[in-house]
Amino acid sequence: MAKAKTTVFFCQNCGYESSKWMGQCPACKEWNSFVEERITKSSKDTKARIRDTVALPITEVKSEEHRRKSTGIKELDRVLGGGLVNGSLLLVGGDPGIGKSTLLLQVCKNLAANGTKVLYISGEESMQQIKMRADRIGEFSTKLSLFCETSLTLIEETIAHEKPEVVIIDSIQTMYGEEVNSAPGSVSQVREATNTFMQIAKGQGVTIFLVGHVTKEGVVAGPRVLEHMVDTVLYFEGDRHASYRILRGVKNRFGSTNEIGVFEMRQEGLREVENPSEFMLEGRPKDASGSVVACSMEGTRPILLEVQALVCQSNLGIPRRTTVGAELNRVNQLMAVLEKRAGFHLGNCDAYVNIAGGMRMVEPAIDLAIAIAIVTSYKDRVMQEGTICFGEIGLSGEVRSVTMAEQRVREAAKLGFTRCILPASNCKNLPVVEGIEIVGIASVRDILSLCTK
Ligand SMILES: Nc1ncnc2c1ncn2[C@@H]1O[C@H](COP(=O)(O)OP(=O)(O)OP(=O)(O)O)[C@@H](O)[C@H]1O
Ligand SMILES: [Mg+2]
Repeated sequence: MAKAKTTVFFCQNCGYESSKWMGQCPACKEWNSFVEERITKSSKDTKARIRDTVALPITEVKSEEHRRKSTGIKELDRVLGGGLVNGSLLLVGGDPGIGKSTLLLQVCKNLAANGTKVLYISGEESMQQIKMRADRIGEFSTKLSLFCETSLTLIEETIAHEKPEVVIIDSIQTMYGEEVNSAPGSVSQVREATNTFMQIAKGQGVTIFLVGHVTKEGVVAGPRVLEHMVDTVLYFEGDRHASYRILRGVKNRFGSTNEIGVFEMRQEGLREVENPSEFMLEGRPKDASGSVVACSMEGTRPILLEVQALVCQSNLGIPRRTTVGAELNRVNQLMAVLEKRAGFHLGNCDAYVNIAGGMRMVEPAIDLAIAIAIVTSYKDRVMQEGTICFGEIGLSGEVRSVTMAEQRVREAAKLGFTRCILPASNCKNLPVVEGIEIVGIASVRDILSLCTK
């Protein structure tokens, strides 16, 4: 078969393709990221293949009930939308050492225990290293096989021979195809490898998990195209210094993407955290100014977390503002609203906002908590013990209603909170929840009147 060889340059950061070398990538603006890669276009016999497949009216396509397989880890099942779908291709991304291999090995253990044939392919670790991790996790069944290899051809052969139902590839950046003349981990290799696995997944109905490394910006290394090619993208994240880990669905062709799963890293592997709110609120200071508990929805699950702020006079020309876990722009905007609409002179104040526990929250419903934390810190006032709040703040200083108010209030009551500050417009159709006082707030001007001391 005639093979046409071409040389192209790829941006190793975003996958941008160019016929000549460039200093700066026009797509992602990264400098010095272009690397020459030779791609061999083998003119495969696609014409012959196309003849077998025909177009069908949609009404004639049989709807196949996607049977889902439980992974035995409830938190993971929730993020997947109820379990694994046969023949799907999943990408699990995360920082180095966050616990991707541990999570997937635990999935292997559960699946194998239920009689599913699983093949774990590692290009990074030796069999002994995987065994060491397995010994930490527990007893394994013979249904799980290990294979240490990086060559795509050999892996394809092994999968065809072993006929597993679930395959784990750890990691996609170590795989290489002989047809592509560039180093493993480069854009064209990653693309080639993903393509190969996609064909195996769709063609043979094998569920494949791909592990992907992330760059310092926090996206899966190599090309963004990787995310387009797979069915589900999960990110495993967490604070290096805290023991909990969060699994977040970023893309899911078979379920919602709003769900998160919370885990704790232990000696014996990852343990599910069933009540993350309790976990997040541990060690919270009592009667401290600038600290308030907020309720944020992560998918269908309410999570309570502590929002802290420290506001002090600035000695700098441009006040310093930093955030951990919250969006800096949002905090700047809220401070401007508080200044203009409620008359607090925050313009020359430094502000540090922190979501305790290292959780990253982007839901607008935590606006009110951030505003209360800033105001109480600035005025050195304290919120009554057992108060929780949620609400979105608009540019006119109005507190706007948020969705799922009832679930949030119930979660707060369940955890022993006695007072809930929420948007006045949400109060109207809220049923009475026992043990919790409901306080409606309409504007940021009313924040101070709700403080006790
Ligand atoms: N004995 C232990 N007790 C508690 N935690 C441990 C123990 N051994 C390892 N860990 C945790 O497991 C993590 C490593 O997990 P794992 O190898 O699954 O990560 P990974 O995401 O696959 O990393 P990589 O990107 O290098 O493949 C360590 O960072 C550490 O937090
Ligand atoms: Mg690993």
